[in-house]
Amino acid sequence: MTDALYEADIDSGPIETRTLAIIGYGNHGRSHALNLRDMGATKIVIGLREGSPSWAKAEADGFETLAVAEAAGRADAVALLAADEAHGEIWREHVAPNRPRGQALIVCHGFSIEYGLIDPPADADVILAAAKGPGGAVRSSFEKGGGLVGFWAVHQDASGEAEALAKAYLAGLGCGRAGIFPTSFREEALADILGEQAVLVGGMCTLAKTGFEALTAAGISPRMAYIDTVHELKYLADLIHERGITGMHEAISDTAEFGGHEVEPAIAAAVRPVFDRIVADVTSGDFARRWVADFEQDRAGLKAFRKAGAEHPSEAAGAELRALLTRGR
Ligand SMILES: NC(=O)c1ccc[n+]([C@@H]2O[C@H](COP(=O)([O-])OP(=O)(O)OC[C@H]3O[C@@H](n4cnc5c(N)ncnc54)[C@H](OP(=O)(O)O)[C@@H]3O)[C@@H](O)[C@H]2O)c1
Repeated sequence: MTDALYEADIDSGPIETRTLAIIGYGNHGRSHALNLRDMGATKIVIGLREGSPSWAKAEADGFETLAVAEAAGRADAVALLAADEAHGEIWREHVAPNRPRGQALIVCHGFSIEYGLIDPPADADVILAAAKGPGGAVRSSFEKGGGLVGFWAVHQDASGEAEALAKAYLAGLGCGRAGIFPTSFREEALADILGEQAVLVGGMCTLAKTGFEALTAAGISPRMAYIDTVHELKYLADLIHERGITGMHEAISDTAEFGGHEVEPAIAAAVRPVFDRIVADVTSGDFARRWVADFEQDRAGLKAFRKAGAEHPSEAAGAELRALLTRGR
């Protein structure tokens, strides 16, 4: 295990001297810009697409805000914090034709470099600076005096300063208060995508919905089924977040713990082959190709998934329960 680096170990010079263009002002873009400025990076411009709803917010936060091409034309380093699936298009159409020679490229998720959406020129430092967590938490933890754990990697080091820039950028996000570690683009991209597909999003939602279906098929009311398979997830997730899986087991009933342990092998046997297929699908770049193709077809596949999700019977049960819970207040 590599030791963590903390704020005191890191030279903040690389972010103080460079003009940084932050492309995208969503959850990560806004948090990065605000934290970096608070940590001494004063030369920041925000790059947004024409008609962006975030334009007014970036200006209200006191940032010079420009079209993506113009911001990219001004900067020593571009932090591409727009939606991953749009990185290829943004790079080809707006950044690559306008970037000055030697401009560094920073991403906060390995996706677009690892799966070939961007083919950076040899003169660019190409850096991953990932504060691990949702963008809103990058800012909220910083405001409380903390930070998220940060991981850095260098894909290309044209200047000899890529590593120093990566570490300074993460320290500027507040990660130096929590711990900064090295990784690789491959490791970060695969871990992030496998985690969300197999467990956090795909896995969790499938277990919850399948549990709801099994209970309602057995004649249990949708309200009761929803409470026991979806609504209570939060309590268990909070316990795991605070105390780990064993700590969660200590906090629940022995009946729940015994039953949970007993069914684990059967569930693991059913899902492990699926998880291994996900690893292969992500590693080969096939998932990235399908997702970018869907983005280019106006997200037709994503829209169909959303429609089907909204029509699942657990949605109506959840809406009814949430209304009930607020009515008595
Ligand atoms: N390291 C981690 O743990 C972690 C966690 C979550 C996310 N991330 C990464 O953070 C990055 C941004 O995610 P986010 O959560 O901040 O997303 P977000 O809140 O949805 O914000 C996305 C931003 O991208 C902009 N954008 C989308 N399409 C664009 C286009 N075609 N041209 C120009 N701008 C475009 C949006 O512009 P408008 O404002 O105009 O709509 C918005 O400002 C992604 O690379 C994501 O993978 C990393």
